[in-house]
Amino acid sequence: MKRLLVCGSNGLVGQRLALQFGHTTDYEVLHTSHHRNFNLDRELFDYTQLDITNRSDVKSLVTSYRPDIIINAAAISSVDICEQQRDAAWRVNVNGIEHLTVASRLIGAKVIHLSTDYVFDGKNGPYQEADRVNPVNYYGKTKLAGENALLAGGVPHAILRVILLFGTGVNLKNNYATWVISSLRAGTTIRCATDQVCNPTYVGSVAAAVLNVIEHDARGIYHVCDADRLSRYEFAVKIARAFALDVSLIHKTTSAELGQGAPRPLSTGFDTGKACREFGFTPLSIDAGLEALSRDLHFVTRN
Ligand SMILES: NC(=O)c1ccc[n+]([C@@H]2O[C@H](COP(=O)([O-])OP(=O)(O)OC[C@H]3O[C@@H](n4cnc5c(N)ncnc54)[C@H](OP(=O)(O)O)[C@@H]3O)[C@@H](O)[C@H]2O)c1
Repeated sequence: MKRLLVCGSNGLVGQRLALQFGHTTDYEVLHTSHHRNFNLDRELFDYTQLDITNRSDVKSLVTSYRPDIIINAAAISSVDICEQQRDAAWRVNVNGIEHLTVASRLIGAKVIHLSTDYVFDGKNGPYQEADRVNPVNYYGKTKLAGENALLAGGVPHAILRVILLFGTGVNLKNNYATWVISSLRAGTTIRCATDQVCNPTYVGSVAAAVLNVIEHDARGIYHVCDADRLSRYEFAVKIARAFALDVSLIHKTTSAELGQGAPRPLSTGFDTGKACREFGFTPLSIDAGLEALSRDLHFVTRN
């Protein structure tokens, strides 16, 4: 039975991985995250605290647990926080994966690491894996440096670049879709950019891709996202329609007018052909992803 160590298990992707691996007996999984407590039910999952910025803690857990595969979903994922708190962002997004890479080399483990479309400048998406990277904000710079640390580390690896994730879980910060839903439910007007274009992706698609990577022993960089390429405004309208909310509360705006803390790459999106061919990745339509989100939200509010 393969042994997996997951980092960042309290986050959107981490929780989804926990639920997915909880449905199979094929893997022994240790979930870890920065916080002392696990957001999901401790009775159902093996969990221990691990701060990936602490090199010696990473080394000692990895060499004692001896996983076959380390999955790194830990990050400071907020673009604006990374811009403001640069040292903290570098420690987690770059030094963290460096420590995991060094430790995995000691025991011959493979590393599966999550990255982002924000490694690109957004001038000519959709992007393929070999396209030129050129991040326009600090978050993107840290994620690119994290990729490079893993690439240079001499360990078997897969890097999954993903885009604008939506989903739900326990004690999570809002993602774009849940922000739109809660704002419209509260009757609040929202302004959504028409010039930020990408492929919004249901978190379950990413968890499925991680499983596919494990099962096919895929190695290299892969672009993973759902099928439809939309502006933030178009995505918000899709969300409003899927959840029977008031579309008139959604106002069109531009990135320049929004004045977000950090610059955004405007036109991204991915060609997922490599992931589809090499490990059978199956992108969802936006409608299917939103239907899945609706089911998940019912489940979370019922439990
Ligand atoms: N969300 C998106 O739209 C998006 C888009 C593109 C790429 N990505 C990438 O996908 C990955 C997963 O993102 P996500 O949305 O799941 O992020 P998230 O919800 O913000 O979760 C990240 C988790 O990382 C953990 N963490 C932070 N610092 C840590 C540390 N020093 N040691 C260990 N764990 C630490 C946090 O754990 P605690 O809660 O325990 O403190 C947090 O729960 C990241 O690599 C991100 O860059 C995300």
